[in-house]
Amino acid sequence: MKKSTKELLHFLTHSPTPFHAIANIQSALDAAGFKQLHEDQDWGTLAKGRYYVCRNDSSMIAFSWSGNPQTQGFRMVGAHTDSPCLKVKPNAISVSQGYARLACEVYGGVLLAPWFDRDLGLAGRVSYADSKGKLKSCLVNFDRPLAFIPSLAIHLDREVNDKRSINKQTDLPAVLCKVDKQSPDFDALLKAQIKREHGRISVNRILGFELCLYDLQPAAVVGLEEEFIASARLDNLLSCHAGIEALLAAKNAANAMVVLNDHEEVGSASTSGAEGPFLQNVLTRLCGEEAVLQRALRHSLLVSADNAHGVHPNFADRHEPAHRPMMNEGPVIKINHNQRYATNSETEAAFREICHQNKLPVQTVVVRTDMGCGSTIGPITATRLGVATVDIGVPQLGMHSIRELAGVADQDVLRKALVGLFKMAPRVF
Ligand code: CO
Repeated sequence: MKKSTKELLHFLTHSPTPFHAIANIQSALDAAGFKQLHEDQDWGTLAKGRYYVCRNDSSMIAFSWSGNPQTQGFRMVGAHTDSPCLKVKPNAISVSQGYARLACEVYGGVLLAPWFDRDLGLAGRVSYADSKGKLKSCLVNFDRPLAFIPSLAIHLDREVNDKRSINKQTDLPAVLCKVDKQSPDFDALLKAQIKREHGRISVNRILGFELCLYDLQPAAVVGLEEEFIASARLDNLLSCHAGIEALLAAKNAANAMVVLNDHEEVGSASTSGAEGPFLQNVLTRLCGEEAVLQRALRHSLLVSADNAHGVHPNFADRHEPAHRPMMNEGPVIKINHNQRYATNSETEAAFREICHQNKLPVQTVVVRTDMGCGSTIGPITATRLGVATVDIGVPQLGMHSIRELAGVADQDVLRKALVGLFKMAPRVF
């Protein structure tokens, strides 16, 4: 297996939540010598160098800075850190028929059926008061099978294969354990886990949490010729990983930037989502004056990388017949003239030319005219900032399943294309 594939599998397996993805990326950037900037502090005049800023522990902007934004602009890659999943409700535990169950809210457009009959772990961020009354947060990851959503047996529902639908409220609570006298104390469970993972931290009271269930099966290379990657969260951690790897590889690129936003799967409207002010705030601080920012944006290009639907061999009629993205045949340029994607002919040309110059394959997709089109952070960021944008992504199958499928070769092609973007000479859009 190639080193880059191995690294991607490791990242996917060990990033069960956006918080963990950002923590892992932060470690990689720290190791490469990036400096962390904090939004509550004065940045002064930034020296040339490599930096990153985090917001909400779940979004990040990482960049190499060479100054002169008014003429150099920014070459930007955007991707999202979140994936559809089941998130634990505040009053987490309910008892039914002598079983304690975890109550879950559906986050984003989850393909629900694949969540049944899996060994589920639990991970996320917990906020607490320490022994001195200070409010703090930390990450937790129960990376052991502690929950399970059992299917109803076929004998108790003979029409299951033709007619079963899933009720989100009643069918999804995950079985945790048998209850004899007392149901388990969820706060106590969290305290014990924090102690296990963080040792010395003293937790007085649990005050809040954002936790999600996840499949414990690690990411894997599959297929007769080992040509596919099977994993949760390929949408869109694959793009996050490729963007960061490209930024690390494009060492002296002028004003290269990777923007990783949380909350894309629920519409991007949050302090750390693409519709929030995070990117604008950072660009404003880098540019200083509004007029400099506006000139910088005209010299900038955003490549919004989010996985695309590859043509499914069993459901080919769901795809536009003349536009059939194939796995392992390169990233897909997404086009929708109704502006569900931000690509226009000029940004399409720019990305196509990057692929051409680097001898990389590239494909194009539009949806069937009689079907609706998804969207992503590209049009949201383009609308918010007025930055020229092209929406692209590697083709995959089973999007929003608990286990998705992508092509092994596409990861490297995407990374190389993004390195090509970072090395592209600034031009006016
Ligand atoms: Co996505």
